[in-house]
Amino acid sequence: MARKLILDVDTGIDDALAIAYALASPELELIGVTCTYGNVEVSQAVRNSLAILELFGRTDVPVYAGPQRDGFEVMEISQFIHGMNGIGEAELYDAARAVEPLSAVDFLVQSVHRYGDDLVIVPVGPLTTVAEAVSTDDHFATRAHIVCMGGALTVPGNVSPFAEANINQDPEGADLVFRQCVDITMIGLDVTLQTLLTTVETKRWKDLETAGGDFLAEATNYYIKAYETTAPHLGGCGLHDPLAVAVAADPSLVETLAINLKVDTEGPSRGRTIADETCLNDPVKSARVAVGVDAERFLEEFMSRLTGLARETPVV
Ligand code: BDR
Ligand code: CA
Repeated sequence: MARKLILDVDTGIDDALAIAYALASPELELIGVTCTYGNVEVSQAVRNSLAILELFGRTDVPVYAGPQRDGFEVMEISQFIHGMNGIGEAELYDAARAVEPLSAVDFLVQSVHRYGDDLVIVPVGPLTTVAEAVSTDDHFATRAHIVCMGGALTVPGNVSPFAEANINQDPEGADLVFRQCVDITMIGLDVTLQTLLTTVETKRWKDLETAGGDFLAEATNYYIKAYETTAPHLGGCGLHDPLAVAVAADPSLVETLAINLKVDTEGPSRGRTIADETCLNDPVKSARVAVGVDAERFLEEFMSRLTGLARETPVV
């Protein structure tokens, strides 16, 4: 039986790829998309997520809006990497339906109570909404199973020498989530920068001559171009968010280190994910940090799943 999945996104090009990966994964049943801020504002993440679900014919998947941090403004680097509209200036029709009236926080809390161990939550943006669920509900932290994209343990950050972008947006929220949640897998830059896509692969989508293939190719080519400027040594774009979904579907894709994590919230290392030294000798570890990945197997799954999904969309 497929495991139920809630995907928490700041849609975002790789978030769009993560939604597509979720829709194409038989091991997972996407029961809702919750939207946060980061690559774009919450309202734009909602708009993009609804449009992407419609493009892939999945208007049955509800979309919920999360809270936005006070004073949040989209960073210049986010606009450079994801475009002003978050999806590389690709143009999608606005969805015919609207965001759900229930808040993302309430949806998360209700779902954890309803589905228990049958549910996995995959946050691939700042952890603000999940942190609010932890603060709102006394049982959330002990019942939720989380696989998140964020952080960097063995490599430098991507917005500062210490901080990865998602954690950097809300270090306090991330710290609360890492300290309180009892089952959390961190898919950070340690592994996501080993899973790279190039225009060789996006051409396969373009060649499908379908609406879905065109969208995936156009948005991802924008993202690849940005990476050519920000990280030319990689030779491709990082498949951050889809890797987290893939690990939720198949944990054997990564090797992990068991650890109790915290996030630095002060000083120059603000936003760093690191071991909590106060529980170093605690035999119980709440987090697993991915430190190795079978990149080849993931990339094969990624391409076959997304290509299959895009093939089913209308011909252009
Ligand atoms: C993360 O930051 C965002 O820009 C991406 O969508 C991804 O979730 C990578 O650091
Ligand atoms: Ca993201």
